[in-house]
Amino acid sequence: MRKLWIDTDTASDDAVALLMALREPSVEVLGISVVMGNVSLERAVRNALISVERAGTYAPPVYAGARKPLYRDTDFAVVCHGVDGLSDQGYSDPILQAAAGNAMDAMLDCARKHPGQVELVTLGPLTNVASAAFKDPEGFKCFRSIIVMGGALRMPGNWSPVAEFNIIVDPEAAEAVFHAGVPVILAPFEICTGDSLFLQEDRDRLAAASEAGAFAVDCNRVLIEYGKRLGLNGLCLADPAAMAVVLWPELIREQQETYLCVETAGKYTTGMVVYDYIDHLHRPHNGTVVQRIDGPAFKERTIRCLA
Ligand code: RIB
Ligand code: CA
Repeated sequence: MRKLWIDTDTASDDAVALLMALREPSVEVLGISVVMGNVSLERAVRNALISVERAGTYAPPVYAGARKPLYRDTDFAVVCHGVDGLSDQGYSDPILQAAAGNAMDAMLDCARKHPGQVELVTLGPLTNVASAAFKDPEGFKCFRSIIVMGGALRMPGNWSPVAEFNIIVDPEAAEAVFHAGVPVILAPFEICTGDSLFLQEDRDRLAAASEAGAFAVDCNRVLIEYGKRLGLNGLCLADPAAMAVVLWPELIREQQETYLCVETAGKYTTGMVVYDYIDHLHRPHNGTVVQRIDGPAFKERTIRCLA
């Protein structure tokens, strides 16, 4: 069985990705580390625990990680997810509690215990992951791969003209992770757009599929309204699309190995993921960019996974 470690800034789309991973029988989630990003660390931990309970399967340990980016300040994505990160639906406090101990130590212990086996899935800013790589570079290399929800390569950024949220919140962390010696699989924002958008009929089917499906739709109500204001005709679920790349790689329709790096000092371009498709920089390839997935199949598998 495949082993996953998930790092998340748990808000509404992360919550759906966590439910997918915890309900997919072909993988085992060994642990969840939480980072600030969409919301504060405290709120993200609460949301992760709620999501684990809503998945209704098993409860991996949930660890609190970084409260702020490595070197920068940050604001939160309230406009996308609501103040509490789950569309302010008034969900009860979780019964589960966070595990004692440091998220970075916990993820490193897991990687060292299962060398070459654990796939690290990141759904938020890369602060926890970079801190782990700094703390124990050799232990970090025990991870099999890192699947990163991040970047906007063939479309405008969603948090600056050229940058996607997870990367721009902590660009120095992302640059460090892309150069930590573990193969990166990048799932950029564009793969949750186009025919991956959850239209009204998709959302209706998901909500009717189960209590978990209804939670998945309800906790994304703010994101649905935010998308409407941007003129989108459906719900962009970036973290679930990245999780689909992890759980069901057969849905990948276009990908390319390349050299990836992150702008950290640009006046207008800080947080931009630079990918050297035409090999101008002559650097060794450190990652694979997933450029397109089968959108209808992604939506169908997600609905089935949460049913
Ligand atoms: O840009 C989308 C990403 O930023 C998603 O992971 C979302 O949850 C936010 O973290
Ligand atoms: Ca996220």
